Amino acid sequence: MSSIEVIGGMRLKGEVKIQGSKNAALPIIAATILNKGISVLKNCPKILDVLHMIKILEELGCETSWEGDTLYVDSTTLLDPIVSEESVRKMRSSILFLGSLLGRCHEATIAYPGGCSIGKRPIDYHLNAFRKMNVEETFTGSDNHIIYCRTNQIIGNDIFLEFPSVGATQNIILAAVLGSGVTRIFNAAREPEVTELCNYLIKAGAKIYGRGTSFIKVEGVQSLHDVEFTLSSDRIVAGTYMTAVAASYGDVVLRATPVRHLDSVIRQLKRIGCNIAITEDNVRISNQGRLQPIVGLSTQPYPGFPTDMQSQMLSVLCLAEGQSTILEEIFESRFQNVYELRKMGANIELDTRQNKAIVTGVDKLTGATVKSHDLRGGAALVIAGLAAEGKTIIQDTTNIDRGYEDICRDLSELGANIRYRIEIAS
Ligand code: EPZ
Repeated sequence: MSSIEVIGGMRLKGEVKIQGSKNAALPIIAATILNKGISVLKNCPKILDVLHMIKILEELGCETSWEGDTLYVDSTTLLDPIVSEESVRKMRSSILFLGSLLGRCHEATIAYPGGCSIGKRPIDYHLNAFRKMNVEETFTGSDNHIIYCRTNQIIGNDIFLEFPSVGATQNIILAAVLGSGVTRIFNAAREPEVTELCNYLIKAGAKIYGRGTSFIKVEGVQSLHDVEFTLSSDRIVAGTYMTAVAASYGDVVLRATPVRHLDSVIRQLKRIGCNIAITEDNVRISNQGRLQPIVGLSTQPYPGFPTDMQSQMLSVLCLAEGQSTILEEIFESRFQNVYELRKMGANIELDTRQNKAIVTGVDKLTGATVKSHDLRGGAALVIAGLAAEGKTIIQDTTNIDRGYEDICRDLSELGANIRYRIEIAS
């Protein structure tokens, strides 16, 4: 089991370049099977989730290769449209292959993606939409956990999403781009990663209108062609490093930052007292004094404050001068970090009925051995460790590697005293 050791107290200084976006790369990798040809994805992050998606592409018969941070995919040949159970168990985003396999092959077999530590994460919005697009699904396997979907032809339809689900919006688009007729998605997700998927598909010849708004229209086309595409930088990695600077009273320039995707995060960081200066895609962030609290911060669908930044902000507010409240409105169990932060001396109450954390700032956190329960929670514990007195050991950090190319490399280059530890199971 891998772990990360942080010795707190170092102020982060210097410059760091932000990696390509994980949550843009994953749906676009699923989309590469639609053009039956070549996709060249530049600025693609080399992270576990991307490597898992590439493994699925190869299981499906595609050829892939890397040249630096450019991923090449040749999807000319496709074998059976089956995504293995092992692949789905490792990563729920493999569900995005359901839409693209239906789009290309008119059938797909995939295991039901389980929940994870942040919530049940059902796929009812996805399946309800496919049913309306002329798709039949049957469930097989021991506890009906294998989904087999098929269609004679995807037929465009009006889809009303009860919640602006990112994955459901993306899966509907993936199924619709080669379908017949027009698919209109009402209450579509507006996240930048949905827009980025649309940008990739439009560059490959798809007809998609309204990307970035709550109303997206897809006109089916006969085929897509080869495409070269450069991924944006990762807004959550950028936000994570900004909160690390805030917690460590540092002064850092983030390069290649997707500033236009970070409005809500920058607004909250300014609200707690950070100085932030923006020049093109560089953000200089510094914090000299004790941070101010925030009352009534709540996670929202884009362009609201992102749920993927909730854990990181929680770590920072543990040290603010006064009481803060954070409402988690997107996932039902995304406050696992509270139990870990308490081991470090944080003063946090949980109102489970409202899914709300009430944080009373303390003068200091103390290093402890804590556990990473999920990708962003683990990164948030690194942030707490940077601010704490003494040594913090974050256990089970493989999930951090799912989304961060090398968090230890990046933060140690900024002066943090941080390293990976391989713990031999006793
Ligand atoms: C995407 O997950 C992101 N993952 C998540 O980032 C992010 O937290 C989430 O969007 C919200 O922004 C990727 O892009 C790979 P949703 P997704 O469908 O698509 C409920 C990270 O750390 N729901 O928008 O799974 C669901 O349970 C990850 O990078 C249904 O009820 O999120 C949740 O409560 C974590 N039925 C809410 O909607 C459905 O069919 C939002 O989920 C689908 C979703």
